[in-house]
Amino acid sequence: MIKKEKDYVTLTNPKYDTPGTSLLVFHFEPQKGENAERQLAQAKIQIDSIDGKDVYSIDGYFSEKISDQMREISRNASFSRKSYGSLEGKEKGESPAQSMNNQEKWEFFAKPPQAIEELYGLFGLIGSKLDAKVSTLPWDLCDAKLCASAFATNRLERCSSESMNTGKHTDYDPVKGLPFAIPILSSEEKKYHPSNFINGEAGKPLLVSAMLYVTEDNFCPEFGLGTIFCENSGEVAKRLNCQHMRICIFEGDILHSIEKSNIPDNIHTWRISFVFKLMINPNRLNVDLKNKLREIL
Ligand SMILES: [Fe+2]
Repeated sequence: MIKKEKDYVTLTNPKYDTPGTSLLVFHFEPQKGENAERQLAQAKIQIDSIDGKDVYSIDGYFSEKISDQMREISRNASFSRKSYGSLEGKEKGESPAQSMNNQEKWEFFAKPPQAIEELYGLFGLIGSKLDAKVSTLPWDLCDAKLCASAFATNRLERCSSESMNTGKHTDYDPVKGLPFAIPILSSEEKKYHPSNFINGEAGKPLLVSAMLYVTEDNFCPEFGLGTIFCENSGEVAKRLNCQHMRICIFEGDILHSIEKSNIPDNIHTWRISFVFKLMINPNRLNVDLKNKLREIL
């Protein structure tokens, strides 16, 4: 089992000092991980760049047995929280997105299926190869209106084009400033990275979102419900198809949204995305994590 060490970060923006906020983070133990290394070597990896920010799509990391097992577990898992992508979608009778409630999510994160354990193995391998600490973002960051979680689940059967457009967002924006402090690991005294920085710039942390898609076996990539990645202007720059057991690691400060669905009315199907928001924090001074990640993937 991959060790996850518990820790807490310090809040630096009082806007998030709310009862819902949890500053708990988990560090994934860096490890050489022969299995993860072998699985990664077998995988097919595609890299795209949008406004200079990277999107990695990784297929074939998991074995068929683990992929089937993950589908079965996901089919039977409970997603008790319901939400709509937009008011328009709700009015049009769109089925709500379903996500795990706090307890469901907590249990899934802490006692994960084998596939998620192997994904944690990949995080550990990235940490070891980059000589960096790979950690989750704070578990929940809530202001008066919205909550952002380090681990998010999203089960969908449909998505309208209105929801696709109104749902465009970034997962975090270090240029505008992070609401919590990230320690400088190479410093002996307690020092922190500035709260505003360019993601992955030499010497700075690299924040990425790691997403795993799981789908029903009748789901086809042309049904949509993948991810659109947009330029700063909002123009769609890349569509990533939703495919069973595809991993996507992307810089979460790229504007993105869920792609609208295109599923024939007579077909009942679903897809789930499991998203981990991560920070990769260099152990040493002046390391260019973004380029190093390109080299190892
Ligand atoms: Fe997102």
